[in-house]
Amino acid sequence: MIVDIIVDLQYGDCGKGKITHFLCKEHKYTHVVRYNGGCNAGHTIYHEGEKFVTHHIPAGVFFGVKSIIGPGCVVNTEKFMQELEMLESKGISARNLVKIAKNTHIITRNHLNEDGLDTKIGTTKRGNGPAYRDKYDRNGVRAEDVPQLSEFLIDFYEEMHQEGVIALFEGAQGFGLDVDWGDYPYVTSSHCTAAGALLNGIPPQAVRNVWGVAKAYETYVGTKNFQGEDPVFDEICEVGQEYGATTGRKRQVNWFDWNLFHKAFNINGVTHLVINKMDVLREVDAWKVKKGDEIYDLGAENMFKHFIGDSLSQTGATIYFSGDKARI
Ligand code: IMP
Ligand code: MG
Repeated sequence: MIVDIIVDLQYGDCGKGKITHFLCKEHKYTHVVRYNGGCNAGHTIYHEGEKFVTHHIPAGVFFGVKSIIGPGCVVNTEKFMQELEMLESKGISARNLVKIAKNTHIITRNHLNEDGLDTKIGTTKRGNGPAYRDKYDRNGVRAEDVPQLSEFLIDFYEEMHQEGVIALFEGAQGFGLDVDWGDYPYVTSSHCTAAGALLNGIPPQAVRNVWGVAKAYETYVGTKNFQGEDPVFDEICEVGQEYGATTGRKRQVNWFDWNLFHKAFNINGVTHLVINKMDVLREVDAWKVKKGDEIYDLGAENMFKHFIGDSLSQTGATIYFSGDKARI
């Protein structure tokens, strides 16, 4: 088995969908697997000129590749069905490609109601936290318990542990939201790191590349105070269209967080790094980086690139700087 993993190195919304799309075009994957989270995620994908926002279904369906919701995820049955219909109605044949591991946990109506009352974290109100809590409390409902899902169920072990499997594992959310490594309690309830992919039943030695995705600045949605003082952050928000793909909420903006980035890079074992949305900083012409309490004004795009590249030169990682208008 060969596995490539895509992880987000910040607070989600770094453009993983775009990298999934790119890698699916470049490689012959037999499977694309979502490995954590539920419909709290919103993956924006531009496919053949059309914009798609998916929450549950992995992007493999756009390329005719078997797309699996792994056992590390949680699924809202109704939302899953709606998404499937949406894709089918837009000409993407997803019904025969999308599968759900039978031991994946389900987001129930009660989970949704409970999460709907959250004011502490600023969740997406998609029932994620309560669904994972009940999983670990051993009170959960699994996909195999839901008759409506029976046609989609697979045994994840049997599916993946076969000859010739080359799989792309796409993570949801990001390092800063990881339940263990994020800024607890302002986190999601799942494992957003490369380790989260392994938890789905993947042997470590199967991992080939880890694609770490970050943006040239930080964004975060939730209740904690995140946005810095500088008025340029509102400008970045507008230029970068920093509004949640799931909830439409305005994302708070701040400078690229050097310390968070290095921690995320090292813990995930990144082999390929993509820094997205360079074009946004180019447009507002502000190239700053936060390192602890210090803000470094790098002044120019090249200095920003050097600042990152030089610090990673020992790691051997391949680095790509990308903007929405550019191909990586
Ligand atoms: P939950 O995952 O809905 O419980 O939300 C917990 C925290 O993670 C909140 O701050 C959410 O805004 C954030 N969050 C969850 N999913 C995403 C995502 O896909 N992108 C960005 N933030 C997210
Ligand atoms: Mg998103």
